[in-house]
Amino acid sequence: MSRSAHPAGPRHADVLPEGHYSAPPADLNRLDEKVWSRTVTRNEDGVLTVGGLTATALAEEFGTPAYFLDEADFRARCRAWAEAFGEEADVFYAGKAFLSRAVVRWLKEEGLNLDVCSGGELTTALEAGMPPERIAFHGNNKSAYEIERAVESGVGRIVLDSFQEIARVAHAAQSLGRRQKVQIRVTVGVEAHTHEFIATAHEDQKFGIALAGGQAAEAVRRALKLDGLELIGIHSHIGSQIFDTSGFEVAAHRVVGLLKEVRDEHGVELPEIDLGGGLGIAYTSDDDPREPHEIAKALRDIVTRECEAAGLRTPRISVEPGRAIVGPTAFTLYEVGTVKPLAGLRTYVSVDGGMSDNIRTALYDAEYSVALVSRTSDAEPVLSRVVGKHCESGDIVVKDAFLPADVAPGDLIAVPATGAYCRSMASNYNHALRPPVVAVRDGEARVIVRRETEEDLLRLDVG
Ligand code: LLP
Repeated sequence: MSRSAHPAGPRHADVLPEGHYSAPPADLNRLDEKVWSRTVTRNEDGVLTVGGLTATALAEEFGTPAYFLDEADFRARCRAWAEAFGEEADVFYAGKAFLSRAVVRWLKEEGLNLDVCSGGELTTALEAGMPPERIAFHGNNKSAYEIERAVESGVGRIVLDSFQEIARVAHAAQSLGRRQKVQIRVTVGVEAHTHEFIATAHEDQKFGIALAGGQAAEAVRRALKLDGLELIGIHSHIGSQIFDTSGFEVAAHRVVGLLKEVRDEHGVELPEIDLGGGLGIAYTSDDDPREPHEIAKALRDIVTRECEAAGLRTPRISVEPGRAIVGPTAFTLYEVGTVKPLAGLRTYVSVDGGMSDNIRTALYDAEYSVALVSRTSDAEPVLSRVVGKHCESGDIVVKDAFLPADVAPGDLIAVPATGAYCRSMASNYNHALRPPVVAVRDGEARVIVRRETEEDLLRLDVG
């Protein structure tokens, strides 16, 4: 990411503070297609439109803050992933990025599978009609109830994350008279180049069973002995918001190494490997994500090469993109409430949401873009910080971005690429009401997750 303490171009102060920003873009009114969903554009009045509907009309009808999800884009991305991986591989959408019944139906229609990681996600998937055999169940500490429900409902696979869980799932399956398909999640010891909290394959963390020290080989030994389990493969997920496929290559190399050990020790060739999710998306114009077909080719090539070298049949590959499918498809629309230009620093633009609808900036120091969308402006760009309405100075939505100097209360601004891990990580901090998710497609808008109400809050408060 480019950083510059003294970007060129118009400024509102002689010296700009240190920050994560480039020079102001040449045209602040331009909506960079890299970060906005595919049907987003500006109409002749300068108002942002998505799926043919204006941001002003959407704000009028659904209020702000709200997430607007471009359904055509979501479906196109599902198809791109499915086509890139083809018949010989399986794409599981990672529901943790954002899940709702409508999303499950879209996935089902577009031929994708679904990865869930809690009883709540499983219920949503089943309720919305996802065939259980197309569901993978994850989690590092699944409850007895979750395990039983997953086995009972016939999920296609459970990804085992610990030695205790190997025994628990085998026991649940046997009690129900089932043989449950499982994969073992291993930690391959790769340092993914991403934020520490979303990197998952180095050894000093809570997920999976380490390849190092023979732990994963021991897990395979145990799983193969248990009647309730059908071990179908090995799973690895190295982290999230990763741009560089070299981490996946190392992971594939090490997973195939384990498959070879298993073949040598047990005479069994495990038929599948799952390389997890984690592919990065563009949050700002500086980000350059890889396309699904490039990723598919890179992963297929490395697995095939490694297997040939090891004398193994190439296993069926699966992947679990979450962010890369839903992330770019939505933006959050806010109304500006107050504007405070701080001389020599930056302008604070307060919106009607904040860390309750997007915790990622506070939690991961994530970078976002922002644009004035209810009109265009020729005013000079000023370094701005978009902040929320919570009682906390870390309540920042967009840390450093340029907005026109005339942004004023009542303007609508939008933050793109908020489809993943924003609504799904939203909170009621300060008793904020979580915003709705509105799906927009071909000139029609439909609420798929409604806005919370004060009654919703009080319903839980039974004291
Ligand atoms: N598969 C497994 C086993 C995972 O744990 C995850 C994400 C995924 C797939 C999907 O990863 P994706 O393709 O969406 O990167 N809240 C964080 C991200 C946490 C990711 C957790 N696991 C964020 O907002 O960046």
